[in-house]
Amino acid sequence: MYSFAPTPGQTRTELHAELVAAADALTAGEPDGVANMANVAALIWQFLSDLNWAGFYRVVGDELVLGPFIGKPACIRIPLGRGVCGTAAATAQTQRVDDVHAFAGHIACDAQSRSELVVPVLRDGVVIAVIDLDSPLPARFDGEDARGIEALGVMLARRI
Ligand code: SME
Repeated sequence: MYSFAPTPGQTRTELHAELVAAADALTAGEPDGVANMANVAALIWQFLSDLNWAGFYRVVGDELVLGPFIGKPACIRIPLGRGVCGTAAATAQTQRVDDVHAFAGHIACDAQSRSELVVPVLRDGVVIAVIDLDSPLPARFDGEDARGIEALGVMLARRI
């Protein structure tokens, strides 16, 4: 049994550092990328509040394909450049969207989603996946969340 849990009362920066450390410990030495993505999706869900979806899309050819996640069933394939996820993958840039209704081309997988954070995962300079977090709260994600999930993506680059 694993018993990773956030320490109460910590800052958002500390929370993300703890999340990355937990993900590092949980994926170290495990070569199966699907298993690692599944456990990291569960960790994100456990550590971060007010999420309605957390998981991975993998780059397969010229599209993103759904990977392990927590949340409602989601769109399976997203062309690169489409939606928030496809934009993050095509530009290799984090997308932090305070109001998904204001993002042209946003793909509504869960009608509850109001804000979204999508971080590309790069291996040797190439986007191999994105980490996608959705929240039912507007403007749920700040710069600390973006930096924290980016650090998670860097740590995971050779483990997924
Ligand atoms: N909203 C995303 C699609 C994926 S779901 O949120 C899980 C987008 O616009 O790319």
